Amino acid sequence: MSKPKVFVTRILPTKGLDLISIFTDAEIWKEELPPPYDILLQKVRGIMGLVCLLSDRIDAELMDQAGGQLRVISQMAVGVDNIDISAATERGIPVGNTPGVLTETTADFAFALLMTAGRRIVEGERFVKAGKWKTWGPTLLMGHDIHGAILGIIGFGRIGQAVARRAQSFGMRILFNDDRVSKEVGEELGAEKVVLEDLLSESDFVSLHVPLTEETKHLIGARELKMMKDSAVLINTSRGPVVDSYALYGALTGGEICGAALDVTDPEPISEKDPLLSLSNCLIVPHIASSSVVTRSKMAIMAAENLKAGLSGERIPYCANPEVYKDT
Ligand code: DGY
Repeated sequence: MSKPKVFVTRILPTKGLDLISIFTDAEIWKEELPPPYDILLQKVRGIMGLVCLLSDRIDAELMDQAGGQLRVISQMAVGVDNIDISAATERGIPVGNTPGVLTETTADFAFALLMTAGRRIVEGERFVKAGKWKTWGPTLLMGHDIHGAILGIIGFGRIGQAVARRAQSFGMRILFNDDRVSKEVGEELGAEKVVLEDLLSESDFVSLHVPLTEETKHLIGARELKMMKDSAVLINTSRGPVVDSYALYGALTGGEICGAALDVTDPEPISEKDPLLSLSNCLIVPHIASSSVVTRSKMAIMAAENLKAGLSGERIPYCANPEVYKDT
């Protein structure tokens, strides 16, 4: 019997790809950059399954180009804001994602960014490598203490809570803002539920852990940045558009906040000409918070498992649009 035709939009960690090749006839896009949208439209024609990444635009047009036989879209990421979920649901297509496996790895990274920006580690390294280190300096590169500081976590789902656990062991006071999470859940982690305004005005570090939706786009804009302490550091490991980057530039250059550490930007990749790149108090890395060898491998395996279930018509184990199954 012939295997189902599948398109995979990039080379994934080997364990995932090996699994996929066992049960599918997969075409894999082997370029370093994602397939351009018009190429993707051609590649999906006639496929039964699509394995995609957050850098691929997966919209209604693409689903229609693929054709009515498309059974599953499996994304190797927990965030699915690049996929038109309602369009998939309307067409009866389950969308898989990879929640859970990247929680601790992403929280590690958010905390690493917090510490790196707070203690000015990258600035220190650049200083040394530029040959500027002449002596021990009494006021050299003074940063902000992590222990005892106030951490505001916006979005208190799995990753936000994992960040809170790390903060507890640093003796931080933890505030959180998330309408979906009760104050009791926060209390178990030593975190206090507060309104956004209080979180912004009281925190020394603000870490973002919300999905990107219509409601969270530019959640942190000029008004919110003005509410923050001038000594505060903003950490974003969620999605770039959650922060208005134009306003962020203004806040960083105008001294409204002290620093920012961004794993995600708007757009991605950030333009070489983006003025944020010129700021020594803005640390930017290329969306690598979940990028540990073990976690990326687990994500690829989960994507393969979702694909396999979807292709065989079973309920997929990790589904971003469970409403697609409501009639079954
Ligand atoms: C996700 O999974 O959504 C992360 O942003 C990338 O790992």
